[in-house]
Amino acid sequence: MPTDFTETRAQFDLPDGMIYLDGNSLGPLPRAAAARVAHTITEEWGKMLITGWNKAGWMDLPTRVGDRIARLIGAEAGHVVLGDTLSIKVYQALASAVDMAPDKRVILSDTGNFPSDLYMANGLCRTLGDGYELRTVAPEDVAGAIDDTVAVLMLTEVDYRTGRRHDMPALTAKAHAHGALAIWDLAHSAGATDVKVATGGADFAVGCTYKYLNSGPGGPAFIYVAPRHADVAHPALSGWLGHEAPFAFDLDYRPGQGIERMRVGTPPILQIAALDAALDIWDDVEITDLRARSLELSDAFIAGVEASCPTLTLATPRDHVMRGSQASFHHPEGYAIMQALVARGVIGDFRAPDIIRFGFTPLFIGLDDVAGAVAILAEIMATDAWDRPEYRTRAKVT
Ligand SMILES: Cc1ncc(COP(=O)(O)O)c(C=O)c1O
Repeated sequence: MPTDFTETRAQFDLPDGMIYLDGNSLGPLPRAAAARVAHTITEEWGKMLITGWNKAGWMDLPTRVGDRIARLIGAEAGHVVLGDTLSIKVYQALASAVDMAPDKRVILSDTGNFPSDLYMANGLCRTLGDGYELRTVAPEDVAGAIDDTVAVLMLTEVDYRTGRRHDMPALTAKAHAHGALAIWDLAHSAGATDVKVATGGADFAVGCTYKYLNSGPGGPAFIYVAPRHADVAHPALSGWLGHEAPFAFDLDYRPGQGIERMRVGTPPILQIAALDAALDIWDDVEITDLRARSLELSDAFIAGVEASCPTLTLATPRDHVMRGSQASFHHPEGYAIMQALVARGVIGDFRAPDIIRFGFTPLFIGLDDVAGAVAILAEIMATDAWDRPEYRTRAKVT
């Protein structure tokens, strides 16, 4: 059965009059999430208290819900676990990966990567010392920069600013041919594209759940470890819940079985409950339908904006193969333009230095929203309605 996107849209609580093109940054509230979290609070935490860890199955939630994400990213069941923030999961994957290529010292990434990933890599290099270095090249130069010195290739599949998508299978194959491991950050891929980590050959993958997967602000990240590494990857963040027997309280750390070892500490149960409810919506979604719909939406938006806003320059690849699920445009006054849009109920965001960014999330965005957003943007550009001092004042979060 083809995915019914009218049905998925009905499962979100979206404010009237708002066109929400920012689900690539923070997903909206699934109707079922509030009730699920309330149930977890009153019936589980409230009535079971600490016995909830066993009685309500809280302890298994990170892997049980991790399996639901595995389906969406083409991972083998039993190889995804939830916990911590994405920055932490990047560090964890990277530390394990460099440990598996002990004769090499280079972490290769690109200048389009999310800064936190690069900061984490630099922090790890400083901690390790011993000649470890982070090497960054332009996104289009990554393939040519993979050589025998590279220990780990660490990339974000879809660029957070432009929406440019890397070729995961090809770059991973090249990394493997040079004896390197590949880590993929799926922050802008999970729930957004037809990414497939298993057939793509990824050694590790990480991602967040508060964007396209709609777990809410601060929802936990996930990590995938390929089955071939699951029992050999050494966890650098060796917290007690990644121990083989946490409640033995041994003084010596022994890694847990497989993906369990990538757990660190106490999981955020309320936030995972919200995520679990949000993932119910995905049960009736075919990823191939999602991908086709996402491209249809971004194509329509790009065509509409280019026809009506000549001073905006497309930053996103036209080629579908190279595009994630967003459309971005350059303009020197991008910040003010976005504030004018937000004031009129069209929510996107701004990424320095000059990018206005719009996410296309088929679960709740349709062609009517695209047409509405294009019309409002065209009106703002035609009348210079963005040119007001209050639209230039930068807020803390852009
Ligand atoms: C590609 C990418 N990596 C890492 C992060 C950092 O995630 P967190 O704040 O959950 O650590 C983000 C956040 O948006 C991101 O987009």
